[in-house]
Amino acid sequence: MSIPTPHINAKAGEIAKTVLMPGDPLRAKFIAETFLTDPKLVNNVRGVQGHTGTWKGVPVTVMASGMGIPSISIYSWELYHYYDVDNIIRIGSAGALSDDLDVMDIVIGQGACTNSVLPSTFGTPGLYAPIADYTLLQKAVEAAEEHKAKFMVGNILSSDNFYAAEGQSANDLWKRMGVLAIEMEAAGLYANAAYAKKRALCICTISDHLYKQQYLSAEERQTSFTQMMEIALDTAVKMAEIK
Ligand code: HPA
Repeated sequence: MSIPTPHINAKAGEIAKTVLMPGDPLRAKFIAETFLTDPKLVNNVRGVQGHTGTWKGVPVTVMASGMGIPSISIYSWELYHYYDVDNIIRIGSAGALSDDLDVMDIVIGQGACTNSVLPSTFGTPGLYAPIADYTLLQKAVEAAEEHKAKFMVGNILSSDNFYAAEGQSANDLWKRMGVLAIEMEAAGLYANAAYAKKRALCICTISDHLYKQQYLSAEERQTSFTQMMEIALDTAVKMAEIK
């Protein structure tokens, strides 16, 4: 296959080496307009907006992933294999399991457990363990420390289901295994990155806690989101410096 792909119609060279992926297309637009210098719309197939601009002089694309592992798997596959993207950083929200987390905290997904079959589609004869790229993880930790963020690094769960039928929630079991938080995309992204020999990382803000009654105000939501964005963007700059 060549470009344009079935889901991305950007031209050659219009997508940066590092792509930040929020789930929501409107959030991609907001990020580009708020943080990037000279953003340009480079994809709008199915309304999945991709914008390329610069941050601290480094080219960065912000493109939505949609929700769930099947959706991020399509976009990340096409970006890695056909648009020659090196780094994808998912920036999203997650529901906390760990007692050590509160809403507004940041979780960096070192590994991503999943109940999805996506990792098994690569055919390994056992459970493949999707993990973040170590260099991206290291740079993101550096950036999080520079921003004085409250963050944790560890295992997350990329779940195929947001809702659970009565008696079917496995939250207690994942929590018991030290899984910090639940989101819905990282494991697909990490497996795709490994297969493509590229880099991936998932950074999430805690939007809700599944064991504590904590809710974010609109202002808190915005503050924590801005901090995560700056960490992800500074990670893109740090990656450009090591090349
Ligand atoms: N589950 C899955 N994804 C999420 C959640 C959740 O509870 N909260 C935010 N994203």
